[in-house]
Amino acid sequence: MVANNSTKNFSVTLRVWRQAGPDQPGRFVDYPATNLNPNMSFLEMLDVVNDELTVKGEEPIAFAHDCREGICGTCSCTINGKPHGPGKGVATCQVYLRSFKDGDTIVVEPFRARAFPLVKDLITDREAFDKIQQAGGFISVRTGAAQDANAIPVPKEDADLAMDAAACIGCGACVAACKNASAMLFVAAKVSHLGLMPQGQPERDKRVLAMVQTMDEAGFGNCTNQYECSAVCPKLISHDFIARMNRDYIGALFRSKFKPVSHASGGAG
Ligand code: FES
Repeated sequence: MVANNSTKNFSVTLRVWRQAGPDQPGRFVDYPATNLNPNMSFLEMLDVVNDELTVKGEEPIAFAHDCREGICGTCSCTINGKPHGPGKGVATCQVYLRSFKDGDTIVVEPFRARAFPLVKDLITDREAFDKIQQAGGFISVRTGAAQDANAIPVPKEDADLAMDAAACIGCGACVAACKNASAMLFVAAKVSHLGLMPQGQPERDKRVLAMVQTMDEAGFGNCTNQYECSAVCPKLISHDFIARMNRDYIGALFRSKFKPVSHASGGAG
């Protein structure tokens, strides 16, 4: 039975993956979480459990978080087998206990992918995403002298699509959900949001080639069109961007055979 939202007698059993470090054995450990308010967030519940563990002299559960508002992409973990847990279009920090039933057992584990090595408990190292971003997820412009925005017309459809892609918070749920641990939704979002804008055209070919190469080198798998990635994306980014990236990549690869990549260019769309 779902507890009344005004009460504070909500209880669950947390089954949490505990692993002291990447070279240590890991295991699930059960923790009772009692006297909770169903309007608490999932991370607030972990705070309560950690306070109790600390008082008892036990090691608190290591989990990552920063904004707690679905912005930073830090709080990634898998809840009951689904990256970011129940709900659609939310990150772990936006999950509330009212999404569960009183008395539930909730299984919490880190994102599992070879390219996301475990650091401790629920925390994984997602530096591979940083490397992909550093390979090409930027534009080279002279800053401090922005011209009038109206001087660069952008079709509304392109602006909307670029905004959709730019919503990616780099949480890694797409990788964790994919049976191949593919990062193609993440890379496609980063490639597309710049490739759709006029400012992103000068480096468009160079960008997609470098980011895809870095993705492959990091050990991510390939896309086999299961679309688990977009199903769990907290920003609801469409897998259509993967097709867009593939088109960009093939075109860039073709052009790179005939002229230096640094001189390549292409139109938006
Ligand atoms: S803590 Fe920032 S997205 Fe969850």
